[in-house]
Amino acid sequence: MAADLPPTLSIQLVEEPRLLKLKKMFISKFQSTPKFYARAPGRVNLIGEHIDYCGYAVLPMAIEQDILIAAEPLNTPAIHLANTNPLYSDFTTNANNIQINQTEPLWHNYFLCGVKGIEVELAELCSKSERYIGTEGGGMDQSICFLAEKGTAKLIQFNPLRATDVRLPEGVAFLIANSCVEMNKAATSHFNIRVMECRLAAKLLAKSRGLDWKAMAKLQEVQVKLKLSLEEMLAVVEEVLHPAPYSIEEIGKNLGISSKELRTQILSQNTQDVTTFKLYQRAKHVYSEAARVLEFKKICTEAPEDAVQLLGDLMNQSHASCKDLYECSCPELNQLVDICLQFGAIGSRLTGAGWGGCTVSMVPVEKLESFLAHVKEAYYKNNNQRLALGGNSLFATNPGGGATIFLES
Ligand code: GLA
Repeated sequence: MAADLPPTLSIQLVEEPRLLKLKKMFISKFQSTPKFYARAPGRVNLIGEHIDYCGYAVLPMAIEQDILIAAEPLNTPAIHLANTNPLYSDFTTNANNIQINQTEPLWHNYFLCGVKGIEVELAELCSKSERYIGTEGGGMDQSICFLAEKGTAKLIQFNPLRATDVRLPEGVAFLIANSCVEMNKAATSHFNIRVMECRLAAKLLAKSRGLDWKAMAKLQEVQVKLKLSLEEMLAVVEEVLHPAPYSIEEIGKNLGISSKELRTQILSQNTQDVTTFKLYQRAKHVYSEAARVLEFKKICTEAPEDAVQLLGDLMNQSHASCKDLYECSCPELNQLVDICLQFGAIGSRLTGAGWGGCTVSMVPVEKLESFLAHVKEAYYKNNNQRLALGGNSLFATNPGGGATIFLES
């Protein structure tokens, strides 16, 4: 990924009101002028949820909305951080002694993770960096942030990391709607439990087929070793795993190791106390979602007449699988998806980790205006907490460009 470092753009700050405001705040806070600015876009995952860390391709796009940073390198090892949002307090630390307290999800920890991450190889710098916060995510967010290009979504494949353009159909818009439910995946174990369930399912499937299960941690690795299609892997799941939750003892017995060995050698720190794991449901989601991603890409490429309907169906199936098999939805997200479908979306689903956060909906452009008005009315209007987030909660977006560094010219 070294060749894909963010581009550097020379810009006139007067034409960039947000950067200008940032510059003023920087000067008033640090009595010094920023030497450069950086931009990183947000992202929305169109399809392929919770499968990147299992080794499977995903299909996100960067959005036009972004975060901006103004920075000045210092000659001392001190790091001073400030946020334009007064809710997040200033923070100062010594770069030679970075401590990241994983039990407290403080905003500046993400910055410190980046600094700490520079110590590891550049190729996987950003996705590895995120793990210092305590979550065992895949590389989707960081990959699309660096590899995005304006006007196209991307199929992101892993090992080795590569991105292929996916031209979205004409005549539809992608709408992001915030459920206004917050789930901090670094402060809870929801996310990592799922990663561990996938890891354990991979090991059990590998063991059942006589593979070296100790060397395997991802469901995709098992598929590659067995040289089977995703459909065939679904049949293997049906044959090998049972729908009832597995106890830690049962998994240990199956692998021929003690519960203690299983905990210390396989599980993450924040899943040590988990006692049951749903392996069948999680593996079924991963293999079927991985197949949906490839189907989504194929439809975009071949562009049949009913492409929009077919893509919508895939998005809806993806949401159902996230809700029922992966159990990473929540009542508010399900309600929001139902509302979006009711008011004109052809496909709607939770996007990202889930348990809160946003939905992404595909809406015909001619229905956009009435869609926005109805969703506002049905989901946001009578709820003060949701209203407080104002215009930022519901918006349409196009595929945006990737991370950039700005130098004032
Ligand atoms: C989070 C992680 C990603 C990915 C998604 C779920 O956003 O950071 O790597 O696993 O959840 O698809």
